[in-house]
Amino acid sequence: MNGESRKFIFDALQAVEGYIDPPDALVFSTLLHKQQQDGAIGGLAEIGIYYGRSYFLLRHLAGPESKVLAIDLFDLEGDEDGAPGQYRRFLENGARLGLPVDHQLVIRGDSTALRPCDITSRVGPVRFFSIDGGHHLHHVAADSALAMACLADHGVIVFDDTFNPAWPEVTVGVADFLRTHQDRFAAFCMTKYKTYVCRRTFHATYAETIRQAPDLSAFERTDTTFLGSPVVRLHDPIRRRMLYELMRRSGMRGLSERAYR
Ligand SMILES: C[S@@+](CC[C@H](N)C(=O)[O-])C[C@H]1O[C@@H](n2cnc3c(N)ncnc32)[C@H](O)[C@@H]1O
Repeated sequence: MNGESRKFIFDALQAVEGYIDPPDALVFSTLLHKQQQDGAIGGLAEIGIYYGRSYFLLRHLAGPESKVLAIDLFDLEGDEDGAPGQYRRFLENGARLGLPVDHQLVIRGDSTALRPCDITSRVGPVRFFSIDGGHHLHHVAADSALAMACLADHGVIVFDDTFNPAWPEVTVGVADFLRTHQDRFAAFCMTKYKTYVCRRTFHATYAETIRQAPDLSAFERTDTTFLGSPVVRLHDPIRRRMLYELMRRSGMRGLSERAYR
């Protein structure tokens, strides 16, 4: 990864309120870079934008030739005049980061009511689909079916909060998805927060990419299995995490990437 992307992940992106941490940001970057290297084209999509932290990462990494679709209810806060504050702050973040939001590539509404053509008509078949919207079982069931129906052959689906005890139904939803479609889909990577899934035909390629990526060498990589498939588990060592948090909280955000070299 070039220095500019590291700076974006560890500095500019951290100013956006949200939930993606450096380990997953580096996994996103590794996978998207691999797809670009292989000429594996397609759009990108995310359900669950909040204020755009992982969305703007996707925008930064996608390159000008890939469209990135944002899907969210955008109803978390309202201004006094009734204007939706969440959406306004999302747009402001884009302007500040130099990644202005194209309104044609935003769906403001309930993801569970969408049809695959709502997505593919805007961005084409999807090569990277991040699911981080509603965290109950019916949301995960609907969102994973939607993602599967839009996915390019070489596409990756990323589920957030998979093993977070605060959201147990996400875990059930992801397991349901993998069991129901185990003939075609399998997990290839797991971090503390996210589970990465692809078609079985691309499993070895993506698992090996994660295993070998120089940008992920700061993490402990161990092989495990999840529902019968080999999975690379990435562990964020506590000493690095503490150093990173210390730098970040003491105003040294710009230098914090050193904790993950
Ligand atoms: C955990 S936040 C997403 C975090 C974000 N990916 C980030 O990087 O900071 C969950 C988001 O999902 C949205 N959401 C919840 N239920 C939804 C639904 N049924 N359809 C669309 N978006 C939904 C919420 O409005 C919220 O913005």
